[in-house]
Amino acid sequence: MTMTQQLMLPGQAAAPDGPNDLTGMFLIHHAFRRDLRAFAAAVANTPAHETNTWRALDERWKLFGTFLHHHHTIEDASIWPVLLDRVDAAGRATLEAMEAEHGEIDPLLEACGAGFAKLAAGPDEDVRRSLEIRVVAAAERLSRHLAHEETEALVLVQQHLTTAEWEVVEKKSAKGEYTFRESMTAVPWVMHELPADAQKRLLTLAGPVLAVLWRLTRGGFLRREKTAFPYA
Ligand SMILES: [Fe+2]
Repeated sequence: MTMTQQLMLPGQAAAPDGPNDLTGMFLIHHAFRRDLRAFAAAVANTPAHETNTWRALDERWKLFGTFLHHHHTIEDASIWPVLLDRVDAAGRATLEAMEAEHGEIDPLLEACGAGFAKLAAGPDEDVRRSLEIRVVAAAERLSRHLAHEETEALVLVQQHLTTAEWEVVEKKSAKGEYTFRESMTAVPWVMHELPADAQKRLLTLAGPVLAVLWRLTRGGFLRREKTAFPYA
């Protein structure tokens, strides 16, 4: 089996060896970790009365939720079920844990979303304080899930999915079911705060269209980031 040099990004727990290039997965996991860190800092430091900032944070939280939901949906529909028939009992337990963990994370994120929406509607220090606890809890849970996935579930992907099968998953994931605006945001969202060598790897992998899209979208994305995270 041919090995691909796997990408290893800050915060990532593992990069299992194997024939499949897991770059896309790791780039997205990096973006989730980065976002949750930024949200936790923003909620801790943004004064409750800064309603305009909370509005921008609410919008930004929805974007994060869209990308996360899409990522988990692809995994639950197109990756874990395919693997289920091919793995042993221990593998089955891992895959079942992946779905169960997605199910545990959803309500935590929903509770956070409700908090952001309330603060976007008007100041409430109690809401801000409880959101602070909720975002930290959600970040904690998601980060444990990502680490579990990276150390165990992705090993199964390397052992049991062919490169042809993996490419189908990658295509589905890249295409997404996004609105035009969301897909225009996906590029700068993934690239944001990525180490330079990883940015280069993605640009090489995805080709010149991505570079053009990034050039077109990064300025607007960074401006919106500043509006949402001035206190983070
Ligand atoms: Fe994942």
